[in-house]
Amino acid sequence: MTNEVISVKGLRKSFKDKDVLKGVDFEVRRGEIFALLGSNGAGKTTTVNILSTLMKPDGGEACICGFDVQRQPDDVRQSISLTGQFAALDGMLTGRENLMLIAKLRGAANPAQVADNLLARFSLKDAANRRADQYSGGMKRRLDIAMSLIGKPAVIFLDEPTTGLDPEARIEVWAAVKELADGGTTILLTTQYLEEAEQLAGRIAILHEGKIITTGTLAELKRMFPPAEVEYIEKQPTLEEIFLAIIGKKGEM
Ligand SMILES: Nc1ncnc2c1ncn2[C@@H]1O[C@H](COP(=O)(O)OP(=O)(O)OP(=O)(O)O)[C@@H](O)[C@H]1O
Ligand SMILES: [Mg+2]
Repeated sequence: MTNEVISVKGLRKSFKDKDVLKGVDFEVRRGEIFALLGSNGAGKTTTVNILSTLMKPDGGEACICGFDVQRQPDDVRQSISLTGQFAALDGMLTGRENLMLIAKLRGAANPAQVADNLLARFSLKDAANRRADQYSGGMKRRLDIAMSLIGKPAVIFLDEPTTGLDPEARIEVWAAVKELADGGTTILLTTQYLEEAEQLAGRIAILHEGKIITTGTLAELKRMFPPAEVEYIEKQPTLEEIFLAIIGKKGEM
């Protein structure tokens, strides 16, 4: 077995005359958190959709756990789980019922036990018996991520796990993602936020104009830029720092 859990080579995809992916290459190693960073419309969701077999590429190759996404889609599906850009919960069901439903669908021996373990792990015990449509954005996301863990997939795709969340909820989701990685799961996440990639990812790839323009650890990426000139200016906190300081969450990361 190679160490590469995700291998993408020369991936291409166009929609009509719009070339979205123009030869995307990257590799993700076992147990890594890898961030695909790109602005709106860069092709992040397109990449994730191809890797999770929801969409066919026009060219290039992609393998997950050694299985080719085009030739062995069933094996790929057995190896992955996808948490899409928009939460996939049933709002009419409680958090616990959502988890039980998926556990049953995936053939878990003891769905109630699976649900209770995940509720505890993602700090959703108190909300377990409330309908999911009454959850906050951060809680919905956490439940969504918890659902994607059922069946213990080797690889998890998280497409923009915190877009649209407030800073507090974002921190909650970050903690959930870190928790996942600590359990040994390989994670590919997409994000528009440099800070999110910084917080979570071992390595970061920047997707821009259809290609990966750079890949590396945060330290490597920083080294590619000329060293900052030292200037003595009073540092103004960002709005996010101010917000977090006020609500007192900053120290809890
Ligand atoms: N099914 C489709 N048909 C036509 N165009 C599409 C389709 N899916 C995506 N596109 C276009 O491809 C480009 C890349 O879209 P994609 O959703 O992959 O971007 P993204 O990086 O996920 O952006 P965002 O951060 O907004 O989610 C966009 O210009 C989008 O309009
Ligand atoms: Mg997207």
